[in-house]
Amino acid sequence: MDAGLTPERTEGMTKRMAGRISRRKFGQLLGAAAGAAALPGMPKATIAQAEPEITNAPRRFPEGFLWGSATASYQVEGAVHEDGRGPSIWDTFSHTPGKTHDGDTGDVADDHYHRYKEDIGLMSDLGLTTYRFSIAWSRIFPQGVGARNPKGFDFYDRMLDTLLEAKITPYCTLYHWDLPQALEDKGGWQSRDTAKAFADYAGVVAEHLSDRVKYFMTVNELRSYVNAGYESGIHAPGLKLDRKGVAQVAHYAVLGHGLAVEAIRAHAKPGTKVGFADNPQAATPVIETPEHIAAAERAMREENAMYGNVIFEGRYTDAYLKKLGPDAPHFTPEEMKAIGSPLDFLGLNVYTGDFVRADESSPVGYAMVKRPASSPHMYSDWLYVAPESLYWAPKITANIWKLKEIYITENGCSSADVLTPDGHVYDSDRIMYLRNYMTQLHRAVSEGVPVKGYFLWSLLDNFEWADGYLKRFGITYVDFKTQKRTPKLSSSYYKEVIRRNGLV
Ligand code: BG6
Repeated sequence: MDAGLTPERTEGMTKRMAGRISRRKFGQLLGAAAGAAALPGMPKATIAQAEPEITNAPRRFPEGFLWGSATASYQVEGAVHEDGRGPSIWDTFSHTPGKTHDGDTGDVADDHYHRYKEDIGLMSDLGLTTYRFSIAWSRIFPQGVGARNPKGFDFYDRMLDTLLEAKITPYCTLYHWDLPQALEDKGGWQSRDTAKAFADYAGVVAEHLSDRVKYFMTVNELRSYVNAGYESGIHAPGLKLDRKGVAQVAHYAVLGHGLAVEAIRAHAKPGTKVGFADNPQAATPVIETPEHIAAAERAMREENAMYGNVIFEGRYTDAYLKKLGPDAPHFTPEEMKAIGSPLDFLGLNVYTGDFVRADESSPVGYAMVKRPASSPHMYSDWLYVAPESLYWAPKITANIWKLKEIYITENGCSSADVLTPDGHVYDSDRIMYLRNYMTQLHRAVSEGVPVKGYFLWSLLDNFEWADGYLKRFGITYVDFKTQKRTPKLSSSYYKEVIRRNGLV
């Protein structure tokens, strides 16, 4: 017997069942009444008969809005020992027992290194107009600095040429967490030298690729690789530094970004655009009233004081420095100037939102709302459903940081995907998630928030960091034993969004 089946619970269940049955019966009665009202011989009107082109006409995105998908080198490429690639911290970390689900590694991942043509074929089938990928630093500089690996660029050259033939515009991320292990051995992001090495690498890549790539993002999600890598230790390199140590790592990470911006500007072809992909705490007003909206704006600055805010304002907020006190990072005016280098665009990775309320009693004027235990989330337990965040994150950041060009560089979710015997994945929950988020994105764009494109995470199921191959974020199912790709139902959904350039 179910030990949890107490008399109270049984009584509650009975009451709920009774309620449900009566509601169902009520529905049947309504259906019967509607049927009776239809004229004999006339087909009953159905929603499917509505003309989608007409009903959705006002819900289109602006002409030229970019529809893309995103991936990252270590998550898809595999081929970790090929063509002179050096090891990265994720090779080391994933091969350390107990660090990833089931000891999964990115040794093979999606084997994209060898199957990129097939994957670009998938993009073409979807109708993608853009694709965001990242470069594995240790393929270009196996030791992070010093000798370049001439074969390092060959893969990206081949991949880019195929992409451009398919008329898909590349967006390139220079750092999506796979730091060369040789640099970690010298201190990694705890060392200022890593920031300088990153800038040198960024300049070399920009010089080589800017004839074909017009959009570069320096880094992906500072918060993730600083806090998960150096504070909680759940990601590579797996360290647990104290507050002072983490603040200094965060400073060198934003410095690396700033120096890389300068290096790209110095070496890339004229017209190259530079930005970064950020995952701010997406402060979302808990209720859409002026006081809660103002609170969310304040929270967006303060909660992101060490990442997006210092980059766009060129200084740490007083509240941030006060809160850290003696643990505040060491910095110089020259460093702050580099960190605040002007950018052409901001990439926003938005998966979830953090609700904020006005709070006059707090010195910062707001309070973060603690999530009730019942808050709905997707298959990853961190991925709370908050579609409004895709309206508020671009709207607030555009407003407070005076932005002219924003991309949603990642949005998507994990689902408990099952490949059915008929060979399909019916990921209706992912479609629900995407539809709700895109509706909010459309709301923002319709109001003139300058979002120019959207990149769905992800094209393929892939190596999901500490979750290994357990959590699937792709709109294409990958059988990791055979590498067979099967587009999921969400892929058909996204294809229709792109075809209409509008909500579906
Ligand atoms: C984003 C990262 O934050 O989240 C991606 O940029 C990642 O690389 C995605 O795959 C999902 O994260 P996780 O930790 O659940 O695998």
